[in-house]
Amino acid sequence: MPSKSQESVKHVSVYSHIAPLYDYMMRHVNYVQWYRYIDSLLNAYAPNPRSLLELACGTGKMLEKFAGQVPVLMGLDRSFEMLQGARQRLSGKCDHLLLWNGDMRQFAIQIEVQVVLCLYDSINYCMSEDELTATLDSVHVCLQDGGIFIFDICTRRTCKNYFRSLHEVDTFAGTEFVRRGRYDDKNDWQINEFWLNQQETGSQYFERHVQKIYSLRAVKKSITRSQKWDILGVYNNFTRRPGSERSFRVHFVLQKRTG
Ligand SMILES: C[S@@+](CC[C@H](N)C(=O)[O-])C[C@H]1O[C@@H](n2cnc3c(N)ncnc32)[C@H](O)[C@@H]1O
Repeated sequence: MPSKSQESVKHVSVYSHIAPLYDYMMRHVNYVQWYRYIDSLLNAYAPNPRSLLELACGTGKMLEKFAGQVPVLMGLDRSFEMLQGARQRLSGKCDHLLLWNGDMRQFAIQIEVQVVLCLYDSINYCMSEDELTATLDSVHVCLQDGGIFIFDICTRRTCKNYFRSLHEVDTFAGTEFVRRGRYDDKNDWQINEFWLNQQETGSQYFERHVQKIYSLRAVKKSITRSQKWDILGVYNNFTRRPGSERSFRVHFVLQKRTG
């Protein structure tokens, strides 16, 4: 916990100040394995796509894996600072790259894409079923007929097992950080709070991240309500077995209905 008084801690928007630390904080995540899994889903449902858009692309770790494989790559993220990381990572690696700052709940692009991804709990930043529906609708508009949308959700089981009482203290690149996680059972919110202390300047920042944790039933309801999607798969973790509330992570594969 920071040593200074609470008044000197500046509350800042999510991912604005943890962006430079994000890759370090997430160094345990096996993006190679995750990429192989997504690639296997694409091989099954949308082989050799020519265009791919990743919503909430963060610092571009997944997009990087598709560089050289998919000719047109696009990434959207609400955090300008996370996108900066993506820009640096992807610079010079892609034939056609478009990154932009935007909100997945409400975006529009001029071209139709074949594949849209939204990974690593990012969809859980939709704080209500209405926001989830708005995201699905925006994706629907930008996909070509028959296009594929793959996203994952974090389950209650994961939050309760791993993040209920998370407490981490570490230092990276001159910033000391404290991360505290808790689960709000009443609202089904996963709350992660970050205190950052920039050692050289003494500046202190605080970010509060809140994610809504949905039941699989609620997600399926949002998907089916619009009658715009076929659900091709609801998968347990990184497998092709059926996902359930017992899964730690569930991947959804949707296809935009034609006509
Ligand atoms: C857990 S990070 C995942 C980043 C990346 N997908 C990855 O796998 O490393 C969540 C990302 O979602 C972005 N995000 C949250 N809400 C968003 C929204 N409404 N629209 C676009 N991006 C959003 C954040 O800025 C952040 O980069």
